[in-house]
Amino acid sequence: MKYPLIKNNILKSDNQKVIDLLSEENPKLTNGPKVLEFEKQWSNWLGVKYSVFVNSGASSNLLSISLLKLDDDPRDEIIVPPLTWSSDISSVIQNNFKPVFADIDINTLGMNTDKILEKITPNTRAVFLSHIQGFNALTDKLIETLKAKNIKLIEDVCESHGATHNNKKVGTFGWLSNFSFYYAHHMSTIEGGMICTDDFEAYEKLRMLRSHGMIREASSNDTKSYWKNNNPSLNPDFIFAMPAYNVRNTEIGAVLGLAQLPRLSKMITKRNQNHEYFLKKLDPDNFFTDFLLNGSSNYAFNLVLKIKNKELFNKICCNLDKFGIEFRVGSAGGGNQLRQPYVKKFVPKNYFKEFPNTEHIHFFGMYIGNYPDLEIQDIDYIVSKINI
Ligand SMILES: Cc1ncc(COP(=O)(O)O)c(C=O)c1O
Repeated sequence: MKYPLIKNNILKSDNQKVIDLLSEENPKLTNGPKVLEFEKQWSNWLGVKYSVFVNSGASSNLLSISLLKLDDDPRDEIIVPPLTWSSDISSVIQNNFKPVFADIDINTLGMNTDKILEKITPNTRAVFLSHIQGFNALTDKLIETLKAKNIKLIEDVCESHGATHNNKKVGTFGWLSNFSFYYAHHMSTIEGGMICTDDFEAYEKLRMLRSHGMIREASSNDTKSYWKNNNPSLNPDFIFAMPAYNVRNTEIGAVLGLAQLPRLSKMITKRNQNHEYFLKKLDPDNFFTDFLLNGSSNYAFNLVLKIKNKELFNKICCNLDKFGIEFRVGSAGGGNQLRQPYVKKFVPKNYFKEFPNTEHIHFFGMYIGNYPDLEIQDIDYIVSKINI
């Protein structure tokens, strides 16, 4: 493959840091001090108080919704996008919340604010907003309305590290935010995810939820004492505060994260420059080029046909195959999640038809890899196989 969808972000020098760790006398490799250090540095980079490093972005989704479930609040609806990764919706279903869907905007691929607001009912507990493919999906109207209505915002930033809204990083606006450090993403810890928050109580619970619900995982003595004093018959080393998981990451992942973080912003700048050049070169008669670039942190080049021309779409796919340019049809998560078997049981028959913008991306959208070492001549080559 001449241009794969993904290239490894992990450099030899990052791997050397892992080798150094492994070469230490008797290293502790499970969740330990390096994880804590990575969490601290990530919080500083993002601009939040607390971060919890887990083994995937999907685990960060799962823990976020599980945390929401711990509160005694009868509201059971969570607004989610039909265009996102499966774990955003699965985590809602797994926790017995009702997923309520709002269609997207083509120019951000994120949920449209007015469509979200139309779906709010007295039962709306949270909005689980995905920033898709590096685009900022937030609006001031959304933030302000959710605040006024006491509805929690959870941001999925798994595909959009470094994107901003009003010059402030996305992932700092919601009650919680989720990141992925999987191979394909802006930086990689092999597998990995992060949950970020300014809410100390949430942080303590997330630390416990990550690790079997054990109270010894809480960061403060006050939290531990609370649980110890309420459970005097239990050994404090084995108090399981809530039904939970083991979704910890390791020191190896943290060392890789710490090694890449100092160059993350530079890598984002290069990806954004590539993206702007790509859009400039793309034929605006055939393709949608009007994406909201302000505040975006590009993840991949999105190709969206302006009109529903299946023949042209297939011709482009054939060309990309022929010239070794890897692509995925349907954008994030392969397109409309309402067409997926895991969702169908929870929505009316043919419900996917009610989401025309997501349907358009499902059938006439695709993406191609963008990575920091892609050069102008590479983009020219890629575009020459698309502008047909
Ligand atoms: C929006 C979004 N959320 C969650 C995830 C899950 O992340 P992971 O692959 O690290 O589990 C992904 C994966 O790419 C994603 O794109």
